[in-house]
Amino acid sequence: MISAPYSQIRRSLAASPKVWVVTGVAGFIGSSLLEDLLSLGQTVVGLDNFSTGHRANLSEVLRGPIEMCARFHMVEGDIRDLETCRTVCAGADYVLHHAALGSVPWSLDDPLRTNAVNVDGFVNWFSDPMPEGHGNTSGVSVCGGPTTLWGETATNTGLAKPRRVKSAL
Ligand SMILES: NC(=O)c1ccc[n+]([C@@H]2O[C@H](COP(=O)([O-])OP(=O)(O)OC[C@H]3O[C@@H](n4cnc5c(N)ncnc54)[C@H](O)[C@@H]3O)[C@@H](O)[C@H]2O)c1
Repeated sequence: MISAPYSQIRRSLAASPKVWVVTGVAGFIGSSLLEDLLSLGQTVVGLDNFSTGHRANLSEVLRGPIEMCARFHMVEGDIRDLETCRTVCAGADYVLHHAALGSVPWSLDDPLRTNAVNVDGFVNWFSDPMPEGHGNTSGVSVCGGPTTLWGETATNTGLAKPRRVKSAL
């Protein structure tokens, strides 16, 4: 069952579309976010290096209407590259950060790589990557705040308030 606050958030987004950066957009979670955001009339800039994600995940989503697909801009790149992060954030309202290496065995086999992606790649979003507009970032690594984007309790909606990276840019 869809909760009332969740429905309200969806109506708000549809009424006032935003520009979202979704990192890890070719992954399981990222591609689901892409599908939902596009269905709500949002514009999405996707960033992925396809290390574990699949182009097929994107093709599934992009079977929709041309008008919907036109609101998706794909950037093939790496979150470890600060310039790439800065570029994709230009003009974006929000960043949903879901690019990561989730495998525990990989983190033991190659801890430097996992650290570079999951830690350094994450910190890049706090390193002044937004040259224009307002930048916020939310994702699995920063969820847990008590309030949502719209101020309701997180337990009602499952959304956490994005952390503001810079208040005025
Ligand atoms: N799937 C779940 O049920 C679940 C549950 C809780 C938390 N999470 C977390 O959510 C995040 C995403 O999970 P997922 O299941 O979508 O994983 P996934 O592997 O399907 O997606 C991760 C995406 O990030 C991309 N990526 C990896 N390194 C990158 C880099 N350096 N630059 C750019 N893109 C890169 C991959 O190519 C992939 O498309 C992970 O942190 C995971 O631990 C997942």
